[in-house]
Amino acid sequence: MTTSPLAIGVFDSGMGGLTVLRALRKKLPRESFIYLGDTARLPYGTKSPATVQQYAVQMARILVERRIKALVIACNTATTAALPHLQAMLPDTPVLGVVSPGAQAAVAATKNQRIAVLATETTIAANAYQQLITTQIPTVTIHARACSLLVALAEEGMVDNAIARAALEHYLAGIQDEDTVLLGCTHFPVFRPMLRSLLPAGVNVVDSADSTAVVLQALLARENLLETGKSLGAAHYLVTDSVSRFQKVGEIFLGEAL
Ligand code: DGL
Repeated sequence: MTTSPLAIGVFDSGMGGLTVLRALRKKLPRESFIYLGDTARLPYGTKSPATVQQYAVQMARILVERRIKALVIACNTATTAALPHLQAMLPDTPVLGVVSPGAQAAVAATKNQRIAVLATETTIAANAYQQLITTQIPTVTIHARACSLLVALAEEGMVDNAIARAALEHYLAGIQDEDTVLLGCTHFPVFRPMLRSLLPAGVNVVDSADSTAVVLQALLARENLLETGKSLGAAHYLVTDSVSRFQKVGEIFLGEAL
């Protein structure tokens, strides 16, 4: 097998994609990553698909200029708005989104075929999760809820205080018979402990991070792009706005210091 010393590019509108990067690094410790957060233009989730696609193209170009061997769109909103476009734009680079892996995780978790999808306004409006899940479970009931305010709270690092609790209670209202809650925004896994305390025991809270890592590994193996060296890979971080802010709040998402 050939080894590929190039990094994998990962981007999100801000820090949310770090929850995906964390899973990618855990699954593929020898790989190097370049993470790009578009913190200057966040949020993507309340913008039109056309604007998000335009931003996604710019993010992808920045990463491609740094020579990457694969691209992970670690943002559900950008995946729904731009995945086919970026795949067509970069025919020689595998491009992967987080929506299909997230849908897989929810399909695998539900027993009663009732799934709540929490995501941004633009992701919910795109209907992508609803379509992917329904294709696999035609009799599924999906409760889709746009929770855009959670993005701002997460970027503020407000994940375990009274404001976060009130916002989560607001968005969870009406979600009662679902046995699976799919976090369809990469910013939302940071609320997992509080969500757990608000949801009945036994409700599955799933996200796309781990399943994206599995799909990426399979993709790299298929394309003969897996890094097979012995040393651990590196991670580099780029942001379109303040570095110090990203550094300070980012570790909540990544689970380690940046
Ligand atoms: N983290 C992004 C997602 O997964 C969106 C956050 C935003 O609204 O910018 O959808």
